[in-house]
Amino acid sequence: MKKRLSKLKSPADCRYPLKQITKAVVPAAGLGTRFLPATKAQPKEMLPIYDKPAIQYVIEEAVAAGIRDILVVTGRGKQAIENHFDRSIELEENLKSQGKRIALQTVREISDMVNLHYVRQKEARGLGHAVLCAKSFVGNEPFAVFLGDDIIDHPRPAIMQLMKIWEKYQAPVLAVEEIPRARTKAYGIIKPEVISNRLYKVLDLIEKPSSSQAPSRLGIVGRYLLTPDIFGFLEKTRPGTSGEIQLTDALRRLNRCHPVYAWQFEGRRHDIGNKLEFVKATLAYALKDKSAREPLLNYLRDITSS
Ligand code: UTP
Repeated sequence: MKKRLSKLKSPADCRYPLKQITKAVVPAAGLGTRFLPATKAQPKEMLPIYDKPAIQYVIEEAVAAGIRDILVVTGRGKQAIENHFDRSIELEENLKSQGKRIALQTVREISDMVNLHYVRQKEARGLGHAVLCAKSFVGNEPFAVFLGDDIIDHPRPAIMQLMKIWEKYQAPVLAVEEIPRARTKAYGIIKPEVISNRLYKVLDLIEKPSSSQAPSRLGIVGRYLLTPDIFGFLEKTRPGTSGEIQLTDALRRLNRCHPVYAWQFEGRRHDIGNKLEFVKATLAYALKDKSAREPLLNYLRDITSS
């Protein structure tokens, strides 16, 4: 193992010397238990954030960053995701005959956006297991992972910010965010060594530590750039106390023999699997729409003043 680490010291020695990352994996097979009953029969990734399902924001971020092939990891009850990105000939014919050109263009753009592939995670055995389902799709290339329920809003997409770090170090990069100490139990937390503003070398990672055991307040959130090395570690990772195979546990092992970096991204993140964050995201995106902004602000003033 030590030998491999020394071999990977400089970017030029990278075993995956790809200039551009073109593949992404979007795990979207979770059960969404925090958002029941809304998610009993519909995927949380399909909940609308103003006028688009959450997962469309994620796919659009990937496309904006030059990703060409995306594998969505789905599961039972997630067919709505495939239907959304598929063509809907009947709907298109209907819009065409009614002369609704803008709506027609919008639905066509959704199905033409990118090459989408699907794999089913037969049981929701955790995020790590969902990523492992992408092993044959990924092959021998570095790849991006986007969590289907994490939307990050910034003019420079979060994944592009991570790609900049990849270009320099050619090593896995995790997106991190400073979270309140009381919330460390909900995140994988890194032990960081500061390299420069927002950039850290990961010294260790701990899945869901208590606030007293957390080595920092930097929590791993829904964007990753990984190398295929992760699959060997995922295969060896046993389920944790929750019964799930955790990506953080495999990353921890990977980090013992390969350098891993963390980037504190610029942007506003919404974990739409959380009810309050979902409402905030819906409001934030609605307020961006010029035609909705004033009436919405008036409505908010009205309901909050009484
Ligand atoms: P979460 O832990 O937020 O999703 O996983 P969850 O398990 O659906 O939610 P709760 O906690 O029960 O409310 C983050 C992402 O990983 C996917 C989820 O769909 C989500 O987009 N995931 C999670 C999988 O694809 N498979 C799993 O087994 C678990």
